Amino acid sequence: MIKVGELNLNDIVQKVDELPALPHVTYRVLELTSDPKTTLTELAETITQDQVLTAKVLRLANSAYYGYARRISGIMEALLILGFSTVRNLVLAASVYNVMDKEFQGYVLPKGDLWKHSMSTALVARSLAKKVGYINHDLAFIAGLLHDIGKIVLNTYMTKKFEDILGKVNRENIPFMVAEKEILGFDHALVGARVAERWNLPDELVEAIANHHTPSQAVHNPKLTSITHIADAVSMSMGIGLGGDGLLYPFDGFVLEQINVTEDIIEETIAEIIDSMADQETINEK
Ligand SMILES: [Fe+2]
Ligand SMILES: [Fe+2]
Repeated sequence: MIKVGELNLNDIVQKVDELPALPHVTYRVLELTSDPKTTLTELAETITQDQVLTAKVLRLANSAYYGYARRISGIMEALLILGFSTVRNLVLAASVYNVMDKEFQGYVLPKGDLWKHSMSTALVARSLAKKVGYINHDLAFIAGLLHDIGKIVLNTYMTKKFEDILGKVNRENIPFMVAEKEILGFDHALVGARVAERWNLPDELVEAIANHHTPSQAVHNPKLTSITHIADAVSMSMGIGLGGDGLLYPFDGFVLEQINVTEDIIEETIAEIIDSMADQETINEK
C-alpha cells in the first residue's frame, strides 16, 4: 500500500467514494452535447428533468459571468442565446456548485472562495484558449473549473495539519503544495484527478487536474494542462480565492513553450474577467 505521509491510498479512495456522484442528468447532457445529431428540444427536455439543476443553470446563465443584458427565463432560451456548449458548461458548473461553495478551512478558503477561484480560472482558461487558438474552449473551461476539486477531499486532513504545513512552508521556503504532499502524502492535484476519474470525466481532464501545478508532466494533452496552469496563475494574480495554495506558487515556464501567450493576451484576459466577476451573484436557492 502506498503510504508516504499521514494518509494512504485507501483513505483517499474511501473519501473520494463518499463524494456525491454528479447528477444523472449531467451525464446525459455530456453525452447528448457530444452527439451532433442531438436537437435543442432533446437537450432542453433532458435538462429540465432535474428542476433543481435547471434553476441553478438559469441563475448562472443570468449572472454577470455571461454578461447578457436580457434575462434568460428558460432552458430553451438559454440554448438559443448561449449555445449548446455554454449550456453544457453551465450544467457542469451547476452540478459541482454545492460541493464547492463551502468553507475550506484547511486551504484558508472562506465560504465561496473556492467557487470564485474555480469559476474565474474557468473563465480565464476559456478566454485564453480562444486567444491562443486552442480549439476546445469548453474543455479548457471545465479543466479550469475543476482543477482544485481535490481540495474538497483533502480539506479535513489539511485542517488538522495546517500548522505543520504552514510551518514547513515558512521554514523551508517551499511551495504550499510541496509541503502538502510531504506531510499528507498526497496533494490536491493528485486527489482531484481521482475525483475526476470517479466522475468518469475524459482522460485529458484527469491529466489537466493531476498536473495543473506540474504541467511539464502532461503527456496526453500538454496544451490543455498548460492552459489550466496559466489560468490558475492568472486567477491567483487577480487575488480571487487565493487561499493557502498561492503561497510561493511556482509558475512553470514549460507552458510558454506549449501556448503562445503574450503579456498583452494576459492583460486583456484579466480586464475581461474582472468585468464579468465584478458583479457576482451566487446561484444558491433563495
Ligand atoms: Fe491547485
Ligand atoms: Fe487553483
